[in-house]
This record gives sequence, C-alpha cells and structure tokens, in this order.
Amino acid sequence: MIKALSARLYKERLAEFGRKISGETRLTPLLMLLAEEVRGMLRADRCTVFLADREKNILWSKIAQGLVGPRIRIPINSGVAGHVVETGRVVNIADAYKDGRFSKETDIITGYRTKTILAAPLRGRDGLILGVFQVLNKIRGRFNAEDEGLLQMISVIAATAVENAQLVEALRRSHLETIYRMAMVAEYRDQYDTAKHLRHISKYSAIVAEAMGLDYETIENIRYASPLHDVGKVAIPDAILLKPGKLTPEEFEVMKKHAVYGAEMLKGSSERIMQMAYNVALCHHERFDGTGYPRGVKGKDIPLEARIVAVVDVFDALTSKRVYKESWPVEEAVKYVRERSGADFDPDVVRIFETCLPHIQEIMAEDAPAGSPLSD
Ligand code: C2E
Ligand code: SIN
Ligand code: SIN
Ligand code: FE
Repeated sequence: MIKALSARLYKERLAEFGRKISGETRLTPLLMLLAEEVRGMLRADRCTVFLADREKNILWSKIAQGLVGPRIRIPINSGVAGHVVETGRVVNIADAYKDGRFSKETDIITGYRTKTILAAPLRGRDGLILGVFQVLNKIRGRFNAEDEGLLQMISVIAATAVENAQLVEALRRSHLETIYRMAMVAEYRDQYDTAKHLRHISKYSAIVAEAMGLDYETIENIRYASPLHDVGKVAIPDAILLKPGKLTPEEFEVMKKHAVYGAEMLKGSSERIMQMAYNVALCHHERFDGTGYPRGVKGKDIPLEARIVAVVDVFDALTSKRVYKESWPVEEAVKYVRERSGADFDPDVVRIFETCLPHIQEIMAEDAPAGSPLSD
C-alpha cells in the first residue's frame, strides 16, 4: 500500500519535473533549474550538474551553490564525478572523507564540508555520458536505494533536456560565428581592431536591450544582429572609406549609402534575427528628430534595435581611434551622447544607456588588448 502510494507520488513528481524543465532551452538556466529541482526532490543540501567536455578532458559546472566564480573545472577522471563518468554507475557514499574516490579540493576552495554523496550519470541518446548529477549532504541520514532509483529516473529525463539545450547552443554559436565573420569582412579595411569594435557593438547593444527589459529572445537577436550594422561598408571605395582626413560633402553622400547597401544585402529573410540585422543596417544613422539618413525616419518609427545601435555605435566610434580621428575620453563621449539625446538619439535609450555605463566601462577595460570576437 505504502509502496503503491509512493510509486504514484514519484510518477507525479517526475512528470511535473519533466514539464518544468522541458520549456528551458538555454543551457545555463536549465542547469540551474535542474540543480535546484533535484536538490529539493532528494532533500539534499546541494546539487551540482557537471557536464563533460571531452575535447578538454574536463568536467565543468557553473552552478555549485555558494562557490565564487562562474565555473568549477575538474579533470574528467578525478573524484566521485570522474568515477561516475568512468564506470557509468551510480555512486552512493555515506561518509565522503572515508572514501578513496572523494577528493577534498573543492571543499577546500569552497569551505564546504561534504558528508554524504549521491552521484549518477547523465546519459545521452547514443549512450555516451554527457555529465554527472552530484547531490551532496542529504538533510537527514544518508541517501538510500529509493534515492538512487529516483536520481536515475531524473537523470534520464534531464539528459534529453540537456542534449537539446546543447544542440540549440551549438546552433546559436555557429550562427554567431557566421555573422561575425561576415561583419569582419565588411569592416576589415577601416577599423584598427575590427574584432574589438564588433564585440563592443554586440555586447553594449545586448546590455542596453537587457536593461530595457526586453525578452530574452529579443536580447539575443540584438546581440547577434547588431554587429552587422555597417556590413554595407564593404561596397564603399577605399578612397573614401580609408581617407585619413575629413570627407567632402560629395564623398559623404557616397559614404551614407553604406546603410542602404547593408540593408540590401540583408533584406528578405524570414528569420527574425536577419530582419533585425536589416533594420539595424538600414536605420542605425537615422536620428530621433528625423534629420538622419538614409530616409529621415523619425522617433519611435525607427525600429528599437536601430535606436539602441545608434547610441552604442556613436559611443564606440567616439571612444575609438579611426583612420580619420583620434579616440575621445569616455567622459567626452558620454557628454556628447547626453547632449544629443532627443535630437539624434531616443531619450529613453540614452537614459538606460547611462545606467549601463559602469558595466560598459568594465568591458572596455577588460577588452583593452586585441583579441578574437568570439572569446568571451
Ligand atoms: P564610424 O567611424 O563608425 O562612425 C559612426 C558614427 O559615429 C558617425 O556616423 C558619427 O555619428 C559618429 N562619429 C564618429 N566620429 C565622430 C566625431 O569625430 N565627431 C562626431 N560628432 N561624431 C562622430 P556618420 O557621421 O554618419 O559616419 C558614418 C561613417 O562614415 C563613419 O563610421 C565612417 O566610416 C565614415 N566617416 C564619417 N566621417 C568621416 C571622415 O571625416 N573621414 C572618413 N574617412 N570617414 C568618415
Ligand atoms: C523596416 O522595418 O522596413 C525598416 C525600418 C523602418 O521602417 O525604419
Ligand atoms: C522592433 O523591435 O522591430 C520595433 C520595436 C519598436 O520600434 O519599438
Ligand atoms: Fe554606420
């Protein structure tokens, strides 16, 4: 009777767990959700989800509660988690410090005291072990056979979700890489450090979009679409683009066409991300008061993504060295953006942009040396 009841409870809890995690395709939030759910279901103090990186031969985790720093990395064959990867079997330990498979290093770093451990493999569709669930310190007593069974069932459901999220993430990365490479081609000629400029536009735009409270999908689309804003520069002759001095009015008329050229290259896609790239390329030199180019669109008729990129593009252009100008100090660039609020720029975007300045300046400081646009 008790057994039947608990079996039904299990089924219900597992079904609920499956529903909760199935909507999350982002890897990091999924891992956090898994850790929190499993910790609760097994009545334990902590849960860590390790994922295996077989190229680097490590197990990594982003979400050890209480650990300072974004990730833990351990060699793929070390400790209890490593043992689970190696054997593919559940490990149930009543006293960690008396078990040879336990390695104290993480406890030493975190100041945590591990006592009981239950660890189970996360197995992918092809049977390959994707990672390890490691649950620490059951609230009362030690982990029992029922806990082992439950964690194994949880692992089967979780593995599917993790695999899907990994696929989505791989696709996103390859999207991003293609876009950056395209943008690099276009801006290679006139930037001292193309990669840095593109990385700045991408990160600053996403930071502002997030601070504006836009949804995750839109933020990510803006992150990936914004570096394409100047892709039309590829069609501007060297004599104009690379001119060390000030452009004549005729030359500037040619230069202004980069917005339309970029839009032509990006138009007609059914993908939201490319539609945003189109909007950004076409409208990033439009001004809020309607005096911009190429069309003189005004106010909120300018797509939001272009109003965001307009601000961060000018800020980054001013604080960077160009073939035709030296870099400005940050304070001067901020002052300029503030002065042009309501004329060139959407005042709502400028207000949010100013709140993001500490974060943006952190990135500027980190990013002083040249690097790849794909390194985080
Ligand atoms: P960019 O160098 O990426 O600059 C983007 C935008 O930042 C400019 O758009 C402008 O709004 C702002 N900006 C950049 N430098 C300054 C500056 O020294 N003072 C002020 N007030 N604003 C600045 P804009 O003007 O529509 O120019 C679009 C693109 O045309 C520039 O992209 C650059 O590639 C080219 N360009 C503009 N002026 C010159 C120039 O005098 N010489 C050359 N060789 N290229 C220029
Ligand atoms: C478009 O969405 O067609 C371009 C953006 C604009 O209307 O300004
Ligand atoms: C857009 O995101 O395409 C337009 C939204 C806006 O203009 O506010
Ligand atoms: Fe531009």
